[in-house]
Amino acid sequence: MSATINTAWHLASRPAGPPTAANFEWRETTLPELADGQVRVRTIWLSIDPTNRIWMNDADSYLPKLELGEVMRGIGIGRIEESRDANLRVGDVVQGMLGWQQYCVSPARALSRLPPIPLPLSAHFGLLGHIGLTAYFGLTDVAQARAGETLVVSAAAGAVGSLAVQIGKNLGMRVVAIAGGAEKCRWLSQELGADAVIDYKAEDVASGLARACPEGIDVGFENVGGRTLDAVLGRIRLGARIALCGLISQYNTSEPEPGPANLPNLLMQRGRIQGFIVLDYLDRAQEAAEKLVAWHLAGHMHYRLDVSRGLQSAPAALNKLFAGTNTGKVLVQLGDEWMPGTAAAVSPDG
Ligand SMILES: NC(=O)c1ccc[n+]([C@@H]2O[C@H](COP(=O)([O-])OP(=O)(O)OC[C@H]3O[C@@H](n4cnc5c(N)ncnc54)[C@H](OP(=O)(O)O)[C@@H]3O)[C@@H](O)[C@H]2O)c1
Repeated sequence: MSATINTAWHLASRPAGPPTAANFEWRETTLPELADGQVRVRTIWLSIDPTNRIWMNDADSYLPKLELGEVMRGIGIGRIEESRDANLRVGDVVQGMLGWQQYCVSPARALSRLPPIPLPLSAHFGLLGHIGLTAYFGLTDVAQARAGETLVVSAAAGAVGSLAVQIGKNLGMRVVAIAGGAEKCRWLSQELGADAVIDYKAEDVASGLARACPEGIDVGFENVGGRTLDAVLGRIRLGARIALCGLISQYNTSEPEPGPANLPNLLMQRGRIQGFIVLDYLDRAQEAAEKLVAWHLAGHMHYRLDVSRGLQSAPAALNKLFAGTNTGKVLVQLGDEWMPGTAAAVSPDG
């Protein structure tokens, strides 16, 4: 059999601030022969996530740091083209840490076969997978969200945030969405059902929260941190819970931000902030997927994809997350959208 040529982005240097093209190196290599228990996967979809930036730092996080020269780590969906494992067959569609590369040679046990769903394959990133689980369990488990409560979501027009807004509505909450820009705010209020919106680029967040949450905040779904989190803390009410999902305003800073000034209100209101990582909920994926798919099919849960074509576009796609030029889930598409047992490829809703 002729050798397979792989193309990949490797980590060339560590960013100081937002990642630049100089932090990545494009390399062509020849793939090794498979060992027993390994498979070769051809990538179809690459998920581009804020956490990609965290993995580039010279420090371990919830996963070990990437070493210089390694293939950039990334979550992907792909199809098996060759297998030396009894459990995964050629043609199976799998998800795992495929990396920013066209092909991944991986132990089969490191990958999960994707269950068929009545949706395009990309829904495993736009609606389900790590994005859906984060939004669903962040609200229902970490924040113990309840009907009738007031929920505030930051980075609300993003992948996780836009699902959190709609999960809140489906749970019967009053939802206040914070996002940057008039078009994102229009989408959130007119199409996703947010009860109030705060465009943090046009309005001070603390003033916006005073306007939108006159009775205070019961639940925060925090994606941004810094001054946004501080403003939320300043308006929480008795027994409030904040699910600390992410701190995107701080991923490109080299100095830590000063701590929130409104912590005394957390004390007085007997509130709780809890960080969480989606990996802790992987064994409950089915539970979230059943709810999310049912809401989506009933027309109560929409998702948007922000798709760049071709592996070459991955570094620029990553920067969209920090520039705020994405609406919805940022993906890079390398192959055809197709999956056995599902409807033919269709565009997700907008
Ligand atoms: N805990 C977990 O397991 C877990 C899992 C997945 C994701 N996350 C976290 O969830 C958050 C959202 O991730 P995502 O994948 O859904 O990304 P996303 O929200 O689709 O994209 C990031 C958005 O963040 C906003 N943003 C960027 N820089 C900002 C800044 N300095 N100040 C305020 N807003 C800023 C931008 O929206 P605007 O235009 O509105 O500014 C941008 O569109 C991130 O913090 C991520 O780390 C956590």
